[in-house]
Amino acid sequence: MPDAKPIYVLNGPNLNLLGSREPEIYGRVTLAEIETACAARAAQMGRSVVFRQSNVEGELVNWLQEASDKAAAVVLNAGAYTHTSVALHDAIKAIAVPVIETHLSNPAAREDFRHVSLVGKAAKGVIAGFGATSYLLAIEAAALLANESKGA
Ligand code: DQA
Repeated sequence: MPDAKPIYVLNGPNLNLLGSREPEIYGRVTLAEIETACAARAAQMGRSVVFRQSNVEGELVNWLQEASDKAAAVVLNAGAYTHTSVALHDAIKAIAVPVIETHLSNPAAREDFRHVSLVGKAAKGVIAGFGATSYLLAIEAAALLANESKGA
């Protein structure tokens, strides 16, 4: 699949701090290490990744819109915006590619304010609670979904 579209892996606020941020919850792995692991897993499945992080909500909206025609699928860890952002919800609804909500931790097992996911109400599915492995499972899901749909 030499001209297969990439999987976009989009990361929201504070995920640039992985490695030092609340390691008892998020582990010691850095976002750069997650990027390397995602690229390797995607390559095994005939895909590349476009891997980005922003603390700015609107930038994530712009990248979702860009993904609409450039990506085969999107792995999205929207961080805290998961629980607050109507804009991200609407952007996911507006685009044709499948979006897989992804989290290192399991928000359902944490504070009440993390139990609502506006992203999840629009996403294809959710993978959460497996640490950095959540990303690799999401890459696999994204690649399998993309391979199912023609032209991706
Ligand atoms: C997170 C979970 C969110 O509730 C939190 O705000 C984050 C990280 C996760 O990957 O576990 O920033 O998305």
